[in-house]
Amino acid sequence: MAILLPGGAGYIGSHTAVELLNEGKEIIIIDNFSNSKPEVLQKIKQITGKDFKFYEMDYSDRASLEKVFSENKIDAVLNFAGYKAVGESVHKPIEYYTNNISGALVLLDVMRKYNCKKFIFSSSATVYGEPQTMPITEEFPTGGTTNPYGSTKLFIEQILKDIYKSDNTWDICILRYFNPVGSHESGLIGEEPQGIPNNLMPYVARVAAGILPELSVFGNDYNTPDGTGVRDYIHVVDLAKGHVKALEKLNKENEGIYIYNLGTGTGYSVLDMVKAFKQASGKEIKYKIAPRRAGDIATSYADPAKAKAELGWVAEKGIKEMCEDSWRYIEKNS
Ligand code: UFG
Repeated sequence: MAILLPGGAGYIGSHTAVELLNEGKEIIIIDNFSNSKPEVLQKIKQITGKDFKFYEMDYSDRASLEKVFSENKIDAVLNFAGYKAVGESVHKPIEYYTNNISGALVLLDVMRKYNCKKFIFSSSATVYGEPQTMPITEEFPTGGTTNPYGSTKLFIEQILKDIYKSDNTWDICILRYFNPVGSHESGLIGEEPQGIPNNLMPYVARVAAGILPELSVFGNDYNTPDGTGVRDYIHVVDLAKGHVKALEKLNKENEGIYIYNLGTGTGYSVLDMVKAFKQASGKEIKYKIAPRRAGDIATSYADPAKAKAELGWVAEKGIKEMCEDSWRYIEKNS
């Protein structure tokens, strides 16, 4: 029985593929390389010493997807094929709703047809909008998303809840990621944002490497210890391991819908990250204070207690490893 990973060549998909293969699982990756590179597949094999099947296709192409399901025995699907750039989603809402929502619906429909009902969904802390208190538990209300990307996460969560309500033989896990950063310690796979990065960590890494001249710190007048935005950065390998634990949970429980935050429970400011990256890289990181970025919130960090209690999962890697691993990847690959 294989585990299907749409978008498995991407940033989070590739790290999860490695952890699943390390656990001895059989995986199948499908990807159209819209935001990833074919070389990643070889790198996954190099890291793990394991092989897997690959289909180059769009995950929302029903005919191709049916072929994958008819040629293989698929036990579970972990969907990493969503578009994820907040800013881009504002300019391309139709593309985002089509790829993320229509794509997920095609996938879920084909899964149902082939009686494969174990699904792990990559959601995001963005579904909590702007919470009034911290840390964020899974019980906090959702809604108030400020961009189409965030809304696709919110809507798919609702779709999954409705699917489970209609047929409780589904086995669904919604994982709400906080801020994934870092890369595999081998330096072989990592984050490859196209063009100028929007997210803090890849931007800082490029300033350290001399690829970009300086970082703009978006606001230093937030109600936080140093005035800059505070986030719960989580090492992507910890995040990947969270998926392995979620899969174990679904295999154990047999039917249900579960929601977990995947974060460390600790918030770091933009300036904390700059300092940690400077230490990890030994490079100066030039920055200037710029105006706040539209749609940003002051603080966001998880209460990860539920994932610990129910999945036996805790994030193990700290800010030092996050920065060192990001630095290794950029040094090796630029
Ligand atoms: N920041 C800067 N300068 C930059 C980039 C970011 O100061 O060049 C700051 C932001 O203002 C924020 C912090 O760094 O305070 C983190 O910003 P990111 O863009 O790295 O991350 P966000 O928290 O804004 O967004 C992330 C994911 C989204 C997800 C969101 C909420 O990228 O997918 O968390 O969960 F929706």
